[in-house]
Amino acid sequence: MQPIVKLENIDFKYPNDEEKYALKDVSLEIQRGEWIAIIGHNGSGKSTLAKTINGLLLPENGAVTINDKPLNAENIWDIRKMVGMVFQNPDNQFVGATVEDDVAFALENQGVPRDEMLVRVKAALTKVRMWDFASREPARLSGGQKQRVAIAGVVALRPDIIILDEATSMLDPEGREEVIQTIKEIKEESNLTVISITHDIDEAANANRIFVMKQGELIKEGQPAEIFSAGPELISLGLDLPFPEKLKLALKEKGIAVPDRYLTEEGMIDWLWTSVLNK
Ligand SMILES: Nc1ncnc2c1ncn2[C@@H]1O[C@H](COP(=O)(O)OP(=O)(O)OP(=O)(O)O)[C@@H](O)[C@H]1O
Ligand SMILES: [Mg+2]
Repeated sequence: MQPIVKLENIDFKYPNDEEKYALKDVSLEIQRGEWIAIIGHNGSGKSTLAKTINGLLLPENGAVTINDKPLNAENIWDIRKMVGMVFQNPDNQFVGATVEDDVAFALENQGVPRDEMLVRVKAALTKVRMWDFASREPARLSGGQKQRVAIAGVVALRPDIIILDEATSMLDPEGREEVIQTIKEIKEESNLTVISITHDIDEAANANRIFVMKQGELIKEGQPAEIFSAGPELISLGLDLPFPEKLKLALKEKGIAVPDRYLTEEGMIDWLWTSVLNK
């Protein structure tokens, strides 16, 4: 199967910082319908990588291929349409006076005819469960609701790929859950490919695969269980430890032998039950 995202040996420097590579020799492939989490410390190149995938930034070396189209002057607008982005700050993403106007704005910009626009706006807002708020002012919504409207704005454009660049990081746990659940539902319905840049362990745990960035390089990739079994090293990769790993460390300090393999919360409960509490 052809990957939907293919990066080959990407190098990138920002023009105002010729000294340092923001991306160095990054190669990766993502299949259609995958959910990918990108983790890494501040400044490791995650956002730069995202902007390379949607053609906002052009690499100095290497090739970007999205949905079989090479990123070049001819394809750039098609590629930007295929890749939707949702950013961190919900308040910086609104242009419309009402929720409905806001979602319509990008469609209007793309010259979608009015009748079709109305249909697509309603469908997108219904998908993120915000249609009841269509005539509300965006400023008066909760953080999670604002991000769901931002997602509707992207979904209305019918992208193949959606990139969430720390899109849940300013939300409370409830707002995070709302947004992640919404993306999951849309992903199932439309075979969307999701790339989520995150420091949140629960969000990363949702992914099929995790990519780890460090100083502009892709240093690791694997399924969540593989990556999470790195234990304390995870913190140095830019993630908080999952709760079962934290508990394992605490038990180890008390002299209790714990399994090396990664334990989910359920796995942890089973193990505690059978190996520790029954003794
Ligand atoms: N517009 C810019 N001009 C110059 N350098 C930049 C610019 N944007 C980012 N950089 C630099 O490029 C490197 C990668 O930055 P990037 O924003 O991609 O990292 P990040 O992993 O997304 O970080 P964060 O977790 O803080 O969002 C950093 O060293 C950063 O300082
Ligand atoms: Mg960033």
